[in-house]
Amino acid sequence: MKLVIVLLSILFTCCNARLQLARQSYMRFPYQYNNGDPTNPRYDLFQDAAHKAAFHTVDKILYVASARSAQKYLHIIDMNNPAAPAILMTHVFENTVDGHITALDACTDTIAVALSAADPVGEGHIELFTPYNRADRVFTRTNRIIVGVNPKDVAHTSDCTRLVVANSGAATLNPISNTFTDPEGSVTIIIRNDQGFPIEINMDFTQLNGRVMDYITKGVRYVFRGNHSAGIVNTFSQDLEPESVTISNDDRFAFVSCQRNNAILKIDMFNQRIIELYSLGSKNWANLLLDASDLNGGPNLRQYKVYSFYQPAQLAYSVIDGKGYVVSVDTGKMTTYTQAQHGVAFNDHVRARDAWSDNELDTTTMDPMLLAQIQDNHQLGK
Ligand SMILES: *[C@@H]1O[C@H](CO)[C@@H](O)[C@H](O)[C@H]1NC(C)=O
Repeated sequence: MKLVIVLLSILFTCCNARLQLARQSYMRFPYQYNNGDPTNPRYDLFQDAAHKAAFHTVDKILYVASARSAQKYLHIIDMNNPAAPAILMTHVFENTVDGHITALDACTDTIAVALSAADPVGEGHIELFTPYNRADRVFTRTNRIIVGVNPKDVAHTSDCTRLVVANSGAATLNPISNTFTDPEGSVTIIIRNDQGFPIEINMDFTQLNGRVMDYITKGVRYVFRGNHSAGIVNTFSQDLEPESVTISNDDRFAFVSCQRNNAILKIDMFNQRIIELYSLGSKNWANLLLDASDLNGGPNLRQYKVYSFYQPAQLAYSVIDGKGYVVSVDTGKMTTYTQAQHGVAFNDHVRARDAWSDNELDTTTMDPMLLAQIQDNHQLGK
């Protein structure tokens, strides 16, 4: 009898445990100060005034970065009383070779800020700071380090001595040569050196090019391979574009998502080398529920015989019941390159309904129900 009661109480706890979020406060961030006057802030929607945030748990300070290239701000916010947060200081990034702030991480004794280059094919930078000092009211930069092209995400090891940077190396029109350019994606590991400048290890993915057919077979997406008749060659390693990075709790491995490529890289943090590139494969929705249409009057969950790619944006690491997991936010990602912005026109996606009306589907072998759903905007058509 006692056992039954215990089990019941576990069930009860498990299924009624709902996380409740209650708003504590509200804060606006300026995207600009009129004439640089700190008492004269400007606020507006769609100005990317608050793009990334990182919380320093010990200091109870929240760092919030803007994503404008004109005014690059890092707001430092007192969170001692979550009901009344206040800006303690706004740090302004003024180096003209920088593009905008792309990522942020708060470790116990270090704040890391990633900045892209103003030149779209130029190398980005990491700036390291000691956390904001409340007593002296200073936020001191300790280093500025060159990393790969388009640093997109950063993660510290638990002891803050190593920083992993995912550099996407996104495709763009090279402003000098005026041609399509897809810089090598890469990962940078910055190792603290208390005797001097940090040690830096840069890893590109050219070593993976020899195994490209193997990776494709396993389901890694090699999205844009170039247009060989136009003399445009885009290698597999150039096409790999890191997006997010997370580190295992024991600091042994870093995991880097290559969102467009539907893959995750596993990196050995001891030897600073790539262990493997893993395909995430595809997901079968046949026995799951999906709201595929935005034209049928709301969320209507139905079953469809379709597959999807995962294409994770953000990664996080977690240990559950003693076992390590990489948790991914699978947002999907479509690739579109245009002549004007990339120097080449390319699309990796098409509406199924358009593919059908353009006679691109083999309707003779298709499931008749799926074919009907594709032609119906209330189902898979839109
Ligand atoms: C590849 O380049 C050739 C020559 O410039 C062009 O005619 C063709 O349309 C391009 N192919 C694609 C798929 O864009």
